[in-house]
Amino acid sequence: MDFYEVLEKRRTYRDFSNREVSDEILHRVIEAAFKAPTNDHLRQLEFVVVRDREHIAKVIAPITKNMEKFKVLVSEVDESGDEDKMTMFADALPKQQKMLMESGLLIIPFFRQLTCSLLSPTEQSSLNYFASAWCALENMLLAATAEGLGAVFHIPVGDEAEKIKGIVHAPQGYEFTCLLTIGYPTENAFLPKQKEINTEDRIHLNTW
Ligand SMILES: Cc1cc2nc3c(=O)[nH]c(=O)nc-3n(C[C@H](O)[C@H](O)[C@H](O)COP(=O)(O)O)c2cc1C
Repeated sequence: MDFYEVLEKRRTYRDFSNREVSDEILHRVIEAAFKAPTNDHLRQLEFVVVRDREHIAKVIAPITKNMEKFKVLVSEVDESGDEDKMTMFADALPKQQKMLMESGLLIIPFFRQLTCSLLSPTEQSSLNYFASAWCALENMLLAATAEGLGAVFHIPVGDEAEKIKGIVHAPQGYEFTCLLTIGYPTENAFLPKQKEINTEDRIHLNTW
């Protein structure tokens, strides 16, 4: 697939079939993460891969309790009243757990967080490990798209991250960006309308 076609085709899918993603494809998607830029040159990324719905259910159990918190968080940040956004959330909210289990493949992308606690940054560069980890994540989304797969991720809310780190026995000094699933979307997978942006309107020459 041409690179710009991959960019166009990358969407957040939340409806997956149970068709298995092979280890070869999974390997290529994870390999893509290591091609991303990295703040300290070291690419200190580690991936916990959980296969089978039964195992995934155990790992994402903390999410079940937090769904109400997640809904409140989402409604609090919404001042736009944008119809496309509301349609997206109406579809996404009830699917947060189901979407992580359906394809039978959950990936937890961990990164080394050395300089300070992730949640207590002291300056913008304190977030460099986090930023690098998200660069890697985007590479994975694009690689998954190029492989004909869909992807979605859930950002941990409340105490989910700490609980999940315990469940998978993550060592000290590591954090994870999100709970990522990749898989083959169902034929009728729902895709909310993306916002149409006129790029020209967003470019400010010399001064804003
Ligand atoms: C930082 C970030 C956090 C997100 N968190 C979630 C999430 O927790 N659950 C979810 O279903 N989608 C999540 N999304 C996906 C967005 O809803 C999605 O990217 C957006 O609606 C645009 O749709 P598109 O990806 O199909 O272009 C997140 C996306 C980003 C970039």
